[in-house]
Amino acid sequence: MRPMPRTVITFGTFDVFHVGHLRVLQRAAALGDRLVVGVSADALNLRKKGREPVFSQAERLEIVAALRMVDEVFVEESLELKREYIERYAADVLVMGDDWRGRFDEFREICEVVYLPRTPAISTTALIEKISATD
Ligand code: CTP
Repeated sequence: MRPMPRTVITFGTFDVFHVGHLRVLQRAAALGDRLVVGVSADALNLRKKGREPVFSQAERLEIVAALRMVDEVFVEESLELKREYIERYAADVLVMGDDWRGRFDEFREICEVVYLPRTPAISTTALIEKISATD
């Protein structure tokens, strides 16, 4: 019998897509056979980060969906729905950046939880600040 494919799920805003985003998705994909990515809704991003994203959720979804290592994307409407999303996509592994270390350990009852180190010295916030400061 063929083994079941291993599904990995991860979440993020992925606004002003940068190399830190690319690397976390590459490393998440390497942990399984199928990578599903929840991209934060515009409204969720506004609540979470206190600003409108530069690129709309439709644009951010389009960018993430086009990546070779990404198999499926969906809009993450609420931070409170992680368990539902893990179950809906039958995820075997939840991947989060290590800035969230420990925060998702409750899901170890239903899947593996892996925290990956962030790429140093780059973030969407820093890029927006850098671009805004350039005249
Ligand atoms: N990420 C990463 N390395 C970075 C930046 C982000 O590994 N330097 C990862 C995050 O840990 C997360 C995913 O990329 O798993 C999406 O993060 P997101 O919050 O969209 O990106 P940031 O650049 O951190 O955005 P912001 O500055 O707005 O918080």
